[in-house]
Order: sequence, then C-alpha cells, then structure tokens
Amino acid sequence: MTIYLNGQFMPVEDAKISVLDRGFIFGDGVYEVIPVYSRRAFRLNEHLQRLQHSLDCIQLPNPHSAEEWRELIAELIAKNDGEDQYLYLHITRGIAKRDHPFPNPPVAPTVFLMSSLLPTPSVSLIENGTSAVTAQDNRWLRCDIKAISLLPNVLLRQIAVNADCAETILLRSVTVHPPFNIEQAFLTEGAASNIFLVKNGILLAPPKNHLMLPGITYDVILEIAASYDIPHQIREIAASELFDADELLLSSSTREVQAITRLDGKTVGSGLPGPMFKKINQHYQEFKRNVMRAL
Ligand code: PDD
Repeated sequence: MTIYLNGQFMPVEDAKISVLDRGFIFGDGVYEVIPVYSRRAFRLNEHLQRLQHSLDCIQLPNPHSAEEWRELIAELIAKNDGEDQYLYLHITRGIAKRDHPFPNPPVAPTVFLMSSLLPTPSVSLIENGTSAVTAQDNRWLRCDIKAISLLPNVLLRQIAVNADCAETILLRSVTVHPPFNIEQAFLTEGAASNIFLVKNGILLAPPKNHLMLPGITYDVILEIAASYDIPHQIREIAASELFDADELLLSSSTREVQAITRLDGKTVGSGLPGPMFKKINQHYQEFKRNVMRAL
C-alpha cells in the first residue's frame, strides 16, 4: 500500500510520525473518508467542503487548495490497487511540545492520506440486511466535526461488535445524568453511519445539526428521495419510533446503504430488507454509475 505523508508518497511500512504529533497526543485533528468507484473519487467536492468545515471548526488552516487535494488524491488512487477504493485523509495540528493551547507560532500540520480496497456489499447483506443494537449517545456536542478523536465512537461501536451486530444506533437523551430516560431520547446517528427510519411508506431522517455528522451518503439518499418522489421528512425521531419502524436503513461512504433487519435482538418490520431499502439501494447504485459516467 502506498500512502502520502507530508509531501511524499511512500510504502506504508516506511511512514513515520513524531510521538509529539498533536494528533497522537491530543487527537487534535480532523479527517475524511471518501469512496472511490472505478478509480474516481465519489462526491469529492462535497467531501472537500466538509473537510473545510471541520478545519474551520478547529481553527486549522487548510494546508491545500481544492485543486491540490484533487491532484494528490488522483495520484494516490493511481498508485494503489483496486478499481473501488476508499481514501482516508487526515490532518493534525502538527508536532509541538505537549501543551494544550495551539502552538504559537503555528507549526506545519501533519497531512496523511491512505487508500484501502472498498469491499462490495455481499449478496447476503443485500438479501438479509444486518443487525444493530441501541446505546445512549454519550458523545460531545460537536459531532458535526469529523474529528480524529473517536474514542466515544470506538467504544460505542464495540458495543455492537460484542453483541455480534454491525452497528450501534445512538439515542441522545435530553437528560444528561443516568438513568438514561428512553422516553425523552431521540435518534442521532450510528457510531460510524447515519440512520434512516421508514414508517407507513415515508422515509424519515433526523435533521443535520451539531449532534450528528452531516453524512455525504445521507445527502445522496435524500437527493434520491427528492428526485424520485419518494415521500420523505426530515425531523427529530423519537427513540420509541425506532422500535416501531417498518424499516431501518444505515448509510456511510464505506457501507453505502444497508437495511437493518434486527434491532436489539428483535425483528425490524418483516425481518427482511423492505421496499424502501430496495428502491433507495437500486437508485443509489444507478446514481453512482451515472455520476461516474458523467465525469
Ligand atoms: N464514517 N456518522 C458518523 C459518526 C460517521 O463516522 C460516518 C462515516 C457517517 C456517514 O458519513 P458519510 O456518509 O459521509 O460516510 C455518519 C466513516 C466512513 C469512517 O469514519 O470510517
């Protein structure tokens, strides 16, 4: 695997960074994950815009222009195997003596890019869907920043793995202190995905705000719903609605659209991917192909 680190392409084994890097010490940095189909980065402008949002939120100047990012990304894709890949872009505040405030004067940021093979969702996943568990969303109040400090997401995602499930669906309670009051809780997102609910033929999506990551795939799904007259609403979704859903969907750049057919050990709807999943997934695949053709 060829990676990019601070101006140079090199084998991943040769890449080294300082232990004083603020990404290593404080998790002081942001990142992006971008799917690549047929060797072309999907929705690149949107990913670069979200990267700019994350950088602005942590007051870190963007080390590259959009054109430079495009060139770096094209070179990285060309140097790695696979028609379908996913790119990881990572920028930290750089190397400095360990001290919480930003280094003054600022130091050079660390810029790291790598590419991995993007697996195609399996036939079994498309036909049977996947399973999820719910947990209290105990993260901070700036989940709109795609920050590399992901310990809460890591711990939350592990809850799913320990239960032999694929994702943890996060419910934010209005009350901060335990006991967690499910009556007052609402859906935010997954530990590493966005979540949609289907009830009576309507696709429901939680509104983008500081409590969730504004997913690029989330936007694609809502564009599909608008283009194909699929009834949809963007509104707060109560936790109780989740357990009474006809269908649940998850979305992310690496997982595309998936049907969640089991939640907390119980069947969701019919227990199989439903008509909304099938429609959205079919259009998503078409959409992906059309965008690629248009490039
Ligand atoms: N994560 N919400 C969270 C918390 C995420 O980590 C992700 C994606 C999403 C979906 O966003 P998008 O559609 O832009 O991928 C939502 C990536 C894939 C990751 O961290 O690996």
